[in-house]
Amino acid sequence: MTNKEIYTPKNILVTGGAGFIGANFVHYWLKTYPDNRVVVMDALTYAGNVANLAAVESNPNFRFVHADILDYENSLKLLREENIDTIVHFAAESHVDRSISGPDAFIETNVKGTHELLKAAKSYWLDENPGMTHLFQHVSTDEVYGTLEANDPPFREDTPYAPNSPYAASKASSDFFVRSYQETYGLNTNISNCSNNYGPYQFPEKLIPLVITNILESKALPIYGDGKQIRDWLYVDDHARGIDLIMRKGRKGEAYNIGGINEWANIDIVNLVCDLVDQCIQDNPDLQKQFPNSPVCQGKTAKELITYVKDRPGHDRRYAIDPSKSNNEIGYQPVESFETGIKKTVDWYLKNEAWWRSVMSGEYQDWIKKQY
Ligand code: NAD
Ligand code: DAU
Repeated sequence: MTNKEIYTPKNILVTGGAGFIGANFVHYWLKTYPDNRVVVMDALTYAGNVANLAAVESNPNFRFVHADILDYENSLKLLREENIDTIVHFAAESHVDRSISGPDAFIETNVKGTHELLKAAKSYWLDENPGMTHLFQHVSTDEVYGTLEANDPPFREDTPYAPNSPYAASKASSDFFVRSYQETYGLNTNISNCSNNYGPYQFPEKLIPLVITNILESKALPIYGDGKQIRDWLYVDDHARGIDLIMRKGRKGEAYNIGGINEWANIDIVNLVCDLVDQCIQDNPDLQKQFPNSPVCQGKTAKELITYVKDRPGHDRRYAIDPSKSNNEIGYQPVESFETGIKKTVDWYLKNEAWWRSVMSGEYQDWIKKQY
């Protein structure tokens, strides 16, 4: 494929499509390309939830398959059955804190699982159907580049990899395997390295949904270290659009950075979310009835729940993305403003109490009890 050709997927396999970004991507894709077939393969770990896909469940072009990416034979069977031409690979262990307390699962899923999937893709696309148009779109992270100091220029695609957490190391390793399948076997691949996402369906172990849901229950808001670490926040739909542009317009074998041009210190984000949640509840008597334990209903403010705790070991100080390559080559830029994106996100968690209560029960509660 040359630079100018547009790649057009038809039958897409989305791994990890019951998780946060995967589910948002599936919603985006079926809305944007209603004629495409979308098959989700997900092992339904603590982070995967079929309820995230309820809106597309009855779509005849959608299918959910409960399966593990570590199962090579099963993946190959599915690729044949559905004549898959495109894999969008989200499935992963994704939480840095979990990778610190238990790195093995990250090596299993992120490294070995990605490799089993690459093997299945190679078998179907290159060995069984040589010449078949195909694409393996690997979804990775900016954490592979390590950390930045305050005045460092943002990460570019040629910034050397320097992963600091077991999570980041596992994603870096998976990126290298994807690259090796492109270089060695000629599998068509692209990699996206994206910054911190936020939006609906994010599991409340990650900073923004954790803060929203803890406020609603008047629980402490844990700030690691001095709270001045910086992240570059991106609304999840912009990530989906970025992946779409890479798939259709990206040069094969290339990596593209996707970011929000939206750097915030953690403590500033937490303060902002505190004010937003307080305001929403103050303005709405129904929410006051629904969340009687929230700080405003107790004559307090959410900020009073802020609690500085021990820092995350190896905590990266700053992430920031230089989006020039994706902007120049594929026309990517974020469209959601942080002001509107964060308001939509807070509103979503206020409206979907049953969702977050249900995903936080069970295994999540067991894990969190072991941490604190
Ligand atoms: P998530 O933890 O919300 O979802 C992961 C999904 O993968 C879950 O549905 C889970 O059940 C599934 N899964 C896990 N192990 C599996 C296995 N062995 N086989 C099949 N399915 C399995 O993660 P997310 O935040 O949606 O992240 C999705 C991808 O995007 C990950 O690869 C992550 O590294 C990457 N990413 C995330 C962010 C972010 O801010 N969340 C930013 C950049 C990149
Ligand atoms: O940069 C992309 C990455 O962003 C993705 O690859 C990861 O999958 C995703 O989890 C996210 O990683 P972070 O570690 O940046 O996200 P998290 O929400 O865990 O933390 C954001 C920042 O907030 C980080 O500096 C740690 C801090 N933090 C987090 C939690 C959960 C706190 O201060 N307190 C907390 O309780």
